[in-house]
Amino acid sequence: MEQIVAFAEYKEKEQLRSLFAETDMGLAGEIEDHVLLKKGDRILAGGRLVQMDESLFHLMVFAVDKAKRGTGLGKKLIDKLCQFPWAYCREAEKLKGLEYTITTIAKGTAVPFYQNCGYQMISFAELPEPFDLQCRECPDQKECKPMALAFYGKAGTKEVG
Ligand SMILES: CC(C)(COP(=O)(O)OP(=O)(O)OC[C@H]1O[C@@H](n2cnc3c(N)ncnc32)[C@H](O)[C@@H]1OP(=O)(O)O)[C@@H](O)C(=O)NCCC(=O)NCCS
Repeated sequence: MEQIVAFAEYKEKEQLRSLFAETDMGLAGEIEDHVLLKKGDRILAGGRLVQMDESLFHLMVFAVDKAKRGTGLGKKLIDKLCQFPWAYCREAEKLKGLEYTITTIAKGTAVPFYQNCGYQMISFAELPEPFDLQCRECPDQKECKPMALAFYGKAGTKEVG
């Protein structure tokens, strides 16, 4: 069966919630705003992008099914999100020939994955509000070692495949 990338549906809420919970993460708002990599009814990975302004997006949450990590699925989904961010944010303004940025905050252990996928480390001050202050008061900061990251892309003419 083919793997597909699509917006989540309401009926997939519990499955995605469990996948995120494996890594102490939660859904980021409405289930229908998340994007999934699926094979049949099984969710393999999920994430949520939000558009901050015309050329700025933020990846709020991103995870792969624990049993399937290290098999290229994370890269497959994040590459789609990074190539076509406007297509994977509901009601996003479409970009044409524009340079854009996708920011995120990653746990220290996930930073090499993001770097492998084209992200660069930035300072927290470079993140859009309110994400710039997201980790400031968090008691888990020492253990989590969060890093701010950014992906710099250029919108092409290609439509989502
Ligand atoms: C981080 C995460 C999303 C990576 O997804 P994945 O499917 O396991 O990663 P992939 O198999 O697609 O890896 C893609 C590339 O990144 C590399 N990579 C992935 N995780 C890595 C790590 N922790 N350290 C070093 N390299 C790593 C892989 O070796 C691979 O490199 P290659 O293309 O040269 O072979 C996944 O492990 C996960 O869900 N972790 C828990 C949640 C999390 O940390 N989310 C991130 C936001 S905090």
